[in-house]
Amino acid sequence: MTDTSFPTDFLWGTATAAYQIEGAVTEGGRGESIWDRFSHTPGMVYQNQNGDLACDHYHRYREDIRLMKAIGLRSYRFSTAWSRIFPAGSGKINPPGLDFYQRLIDELLAAGIVPMITLYHWDLPQSLQDKGGWKNRDTVKYFTDYAGTMFDRFCDRVHLWITHNEPWVVSFLGHDSGLHAPGIQDRKSALEVSHNLLLSHAYAALLFGEYRRAASNIGITLNIAPAYPNSDSPEDEQAARYYDGYQNRWFLDPVFTGRYPEDMLEVYQKQFNAPLVEAEDLNAFQKSRIDFLGVNYYMRKLVCRPEDKGELFTELRPNYPGVQFTDMDWEVYADGLYTLLTRIQRDYDPPVIYVTENGIACSDRVDDDGQIRDEARIAYLRDHFSAAHRAMQEGVKLKGYYVWSLIDNFEWAYGVSKRFGIVYVDYKTQARTLKSSAHWYREVIGNSGF
Ligand code: FCB
Repeated sequence: MTDTSFPTDFLWGTATAAYQIEGAVTEGGRGESIWDRFSHTPGMVYQNQNGDLACDHYHRYREDIRLMKAIGLRSYRFSTAWSRIFPAGSGKINPPGLDFYQRLIDELLAAGIVPMITLYHWDLPQSLQDKGGWKNRDTVKYFTDYAGTMFDRFCDRVHLWITHNEPWVVSFLGHDSGLHAPGIQDRKSALEVSHNLLLSHAYAALLFGEYRRAASNIGITLNIAPAYPNSDSPEDEQAARYYDGYQNRWFLDPVFTGRYPEDMLEVYQKQFNAPLVEAEDLNAFQKSRIDFLGVNYYMRKLVCRPEDKGELFTELRPNYPGVQFTDMDWEVYADGLYTLLTRIQRDYDPPVIYVTENGIACSDRVDDDGQIRDEARIAYLRDHFSAAHRAMQEGVKLKGYYVWSLIDNFEWAYGVSKRFGIVYVDYKTQARTLKSSAHWYREVIGNSGF
């Protein structure tokens, strides 16, 4: 018995995403994606870095699976690159793209590691962006076709499917702040995009019904940030409710209840004077169902009443004795994970939850003896695993936990300047080295707790 013991069949894993690790962007018939275009546009990514090579995982996946085995991982979450399967986003299938994922999946299964596929982790084929991207409703249909192609080929051996990773990020960082590809700055577009993403999720989940086998599961991954009011004044509390509506309920409600939250619909309709939703869309929301919810947790939000008129809230940087920030400048707040898991179980009651991402960027360095002593990462993971464990004690149906990330990788607009891996990557040689946290994680998995 350990202090914090987890079920023996708990899915301990790590997560990655195609553009962040694969490289080989012009190999195997792969088409251009919006992240290729964005990262090659001067000024968009730190030091104008790009994912052309990234971790060269396309060529080194066997070695990476050996690392997973050495750590004792039970599951591995990765994303498939749409533009490897459909180089132009729709139309002709590219068989070498499917073959690459076939090799990866078979190698994982041979190693006894359960694959979990994310279909969309932000790398839209550029040809579809040229036709309006996620603002164009046709993209919903193309996504569903792509999803169907993947189900058809792999549903016999892959039983955990995720339609989208963090549609909030795609919508608001991609189309409102413009910090991510495709770099658009227009809030109304961001809302339209969020709707089309949710709709494409619903249609793909409906289609999944045709491929469903006994053990098949489909879900969606949302990045949920519990919102805390800065004081108990009614204005600050309203600001926190709005933040929750903007980032969390706007995505959770359609998935679980088949409709958008009333308060947010009202606000957005006033702001943009646009009916966003057609009746048939709600029908699709209502008919689709998920088998699990994926939760990515990195931070909470501290908010107060809006400083600018016309805004709904103002975000604050937490400032209290002992507050800690990661290398991303994100506050470390493990209790937020407990709060959000118990809240989701209470308010939405998903059949199963997986933490599909959680982790920390640290300024890791290799010591003279070749070791990477990332004690801060171990402390972070221990505290977050404990928070998850506490939530499970209270009835949260958490069945697995995927640490972000297996290896250091291309962190979007930050390039390779941020290290999230439990395995260190030397980008000059592509050599991989297990950090202390990977050794620690192996113990946790082996002991089903700590
Ligand atoms: C999440 C993304 C993932 C990675 C982590 C740090 O928002 O899903 O790709 O960038 O943040």
